[in-house]
Amino acid sequence: MTSGRASGKIILFGEHAVVYGQPAIAVPVAQVAVQVHVTPARDRRSGIWLRSPEVQLDSSLADLPADHPVKAGLQLIFEKLDVEPAALDIEIESTIPIAAGLGSGAAVTIALARALGAHHERPLSRDDQSRIAFEVDRLHHGTPSGIDNTVIALGQPIYFVKGQDPSPFQVGVPVPLVIADSGIPSPTSEAVALVRERWLNNRLASEDIFDAIGHISKSARRQIAAGEIESLGPAMNANHRLLQRLGVSTAELDTLVAAARAAGAHGAKLSGAGLGGNVIALSDPDDVGDISGAFLSAGAVSTISTVVEP
Ligand code: PMV
Repeated sequence: MTSGRASGKIILFGEHAVVYGQPAIAVPVAQVAVQVHVTPARDRRSGIWLRSPEVQLDSSLADLPADHPVKAGLQLIFEKLDVEPAALDIEIESTIPIAAGLGSGAAVTIALARALGAHHERPLSRDDQSRIAFEVDRLHHGTPSGIDNTVIALGQPIYFVKGQDPSPFQVGVPVPLVIADSGIPSPTSEAVALVRERWLNNRLASEDIFDAIGHISKSARRQIAAGEIESLGPAMNANHRLLQRLGVSTAELDTLVAAARAAGAHGAKLSGAGLGGNVIALSDPDDVGDISGAFLSAGAVSTISTVVEP
């Protein structure tokens, strides 16, 4: 048996504006991950058989619709590996919540690419893994910036500008974060379409917001490198206000953000596409428990605590 793993991710600053060319910052979240296990099939006539208990998938590849993300991903992976798909059993296990802004889609494709690269003894480069996950994402939400596939394939904090090589950057001191899942699915394509519609209706107003968000990402990069944690909290709050103005926050997300701040977070914001999904809070190490409790009392279905390590 061979295996491949890919962890989740969150966006610290710059979501949505990144689609319009502004910088954004994303970090891996190693506490959640997709694991893929590949074994030669017991019954060689069965072709590729896929199992994923978390999404009730138990099907032969041939029976999946052509636009199924796993099918689309596998096709691109086999093309890149330049091998004929053999009879395989593929098991996909995931602890990444789906449609929550934690990168579950890109992580599935990248873990598949890693496991199959290992199985065929032709490991794919991180660049290839990233490109394949980007193509799959494109089928599903049209105009992805590429930040999800890039941070997950690289597995380290990145400063990302669409269309440019990502730059990994220095993290000066550990940055403790609490992530809360609102339990409300975050429809990335819907949120991206909403922002686009508003932009088409009033380009100048939207571009002012994108510029302001980009400015926050640029300063945040410096603050993280210099270990100026105390400036990052207000930056998160400011980024959240701009996301509210873009129309992608909701009453539930605002309640979670307010609860984290009241429990001592330096700052908090929604993370990812919005309309649901996750919020993140910047915490002192001693306050992680209080902030996590405050999130749960304010309606979050689960929390993850993580640290962005230098
Ligand atoms: O996949 P999510 O929910 O983390 O959202 C992606 C972030 C957006 O900036 C909204 C879209 C994109 O492609 O960058």
